Amino acid sequence: MTIRLSALLLSSVVSFSAAQAESLRASVTVQTDRPGSVIDPGIYGQFAEHLGRGVYEGVWVGESSPIPNTRGIRNDVVAALKELGVPVLRWPGGCFADEYHWRDGIGPRNQRPTRINTTWGGVVDDNAFGTHEFMDFAEMIGAEVYVNGNVGTGSVQEMAEWVEYMTADNNSTLAQLRRANGRDKPWRLHYFAVGNETWGCGGNMRPEFYADLYRQYATFIKTPRDNKPQRIASGANGSNTEWTEVLMREAGKHMDAISVHYYTLPRGEWKDKGAATRFPESEWMSTFKRTLRMDEILTNHGKIMDRYDPQRRVALLVDEWGTWYDVEPGTNEGFLYQQNSLRDALVAAINFNIFHRHAARVRMTNIAQMVNVLQAMILTDGPKMVKTATYHAFALYKPFRGATHVPVEVSTAEYKLDAESVPAVHATAARDQAGALHIALTNLDPHRAATVELRLPGQTIKALQGQILTAASTDAINTFEAPDAVRPAPFKVPRARGDRLQLEVPAKALLVLSQR
Ligand code: AHR
Repeated sequence: MTIRLSALLLSSVVSFSAAQAESLRASVTVQTDRPGSVIDPGIYGQFAEHLGRGVYEGVWVGESSPIPNTRGIRNDVVAALKELGVPVLRWPGGCFADEYHWRDGIGPRNQRPTRINTTWGGVVDDNAFGTHEFMDFAEMIGAEVYVNGNVGTGSVQEMAEWVEYMTADNNSTLAQLRRANGRDKPWRLHYFAVGNETWGCGGNMRPEFYADLYRQYATFIKTPRDNKPQRIASGANGSNTEWTEVLMREAGKHMDAISVHYYTLPRGEWKDKGAATRFPESEWMSTFKRTLRMDEILTNHGKIMDRYDPQRRVALLVDEWGTWYDVEPGTNEGFLYQQNSLRDALVAAINFNIFHRHAARVRMTNIAQMVNVLQAMILTDGPKMVKTATYHAFALYKPFRGATHVPVEVSTAEYKLDAESVPAVHATAARDQAGALHIALTNLDPHRAATVELRLPGQTIKALQGQILTAASTDAINTFEAPDAVRPAPFKVPRARGDRLQLEVPAKALLVLSQR
């Protein structure tokens, strides 16, 4: 059966019992005459929390570590992230943000207090990685900074003083303290959030209560005129549109953005989420079904925002998203360490496609998280480091950053399993600033290649080059011993006929085509 996606949707181990050998069919029409919104590079942002081995070991090893580092920050991780490009980095949480007191993380490291990270494993944080170290790291990788303030256990004064410490360009006592701690010039503060998940770990608040608190805190985010951060309100849990409604109604005028968090759990159960590898085919299917809900979630929050903010001044930021599995056997439950397979790369691709469609409102997202936590770009083990499948998905989508979204119309066979089904082929397209067109095609069927008829009405298709990301099994991972099991490879693009091109997208694959 062929299903038609609505025009403006425009847009194991796991060698599962083999199924239909013949390829499935799909057609993708790129509507080059209907350019959409610019895809903000911030959509490809990341998140690093004081959680497990995310910051400590993953980024920070300390100056005396045998692991090669620059001012305590590991060189291999910086090199990998610089190569990828990280448009924006969120820190220090997450739930951790609402227990973080910024003064703990400044001054001589051997005099900083140690605190218990009560949310994540009860481990002791020696505060070696504080504001200066974070800003140094962000500068090293070329990322804009997104600092998340503490509402849950902080105060308006503490938050206001942190902002002043980072941004004051005068001789205030806090600016002098920053200088005494080694930073003369203020840092550019791009984004600042007032609390995190204030409906949950950030304080279990009601939206009415938080809306008032937000207004109060946001009033005191005071910075020099040329260094105004975007003020972000802590947003909804997944599909909870009531939260967005109340916040937009009561505090919309005081914010530049509101967030939303949505994670993909294969089984949809927090106590039994499903494994990162060696999963049954039913969880390959359910992972994508649940990922595809992101579209409805953004549509529904967007509709509410449109009522209060028809000009779309306020952005919707998905500042936490990604897969969340059971932790790897034998690892600390509180560290959220999970493997990262080809499935994760395709989850990232599907989310990117959805974010592109919502680019008019969605102007930043932050995958959770950057290193060693949840759907990470990078995994480390002592001195060893490996780039994950998700890293490669981010790399393949680089041409879409800052490009103008071009709607696509997709007509595709379904990928079916028992009573469940999802559209097999997903697509997105965009035109970059130099005028080159980029198209990403994802085939979620783990058994069948997709014969895709690509159309660019009114245009002669020429000079396309392709990169393909696939692997031998759906749960293929990169390991320290075999780091290239999942990595992009060149794809030979067949010759086009006028405005049409027929190509075979292999099973379980992401293909990115770019005009040269
Ligand atoms: O990313 C892990 C956690 O997930 C964050 O700390 C929290 O905001 C969310 O619940």
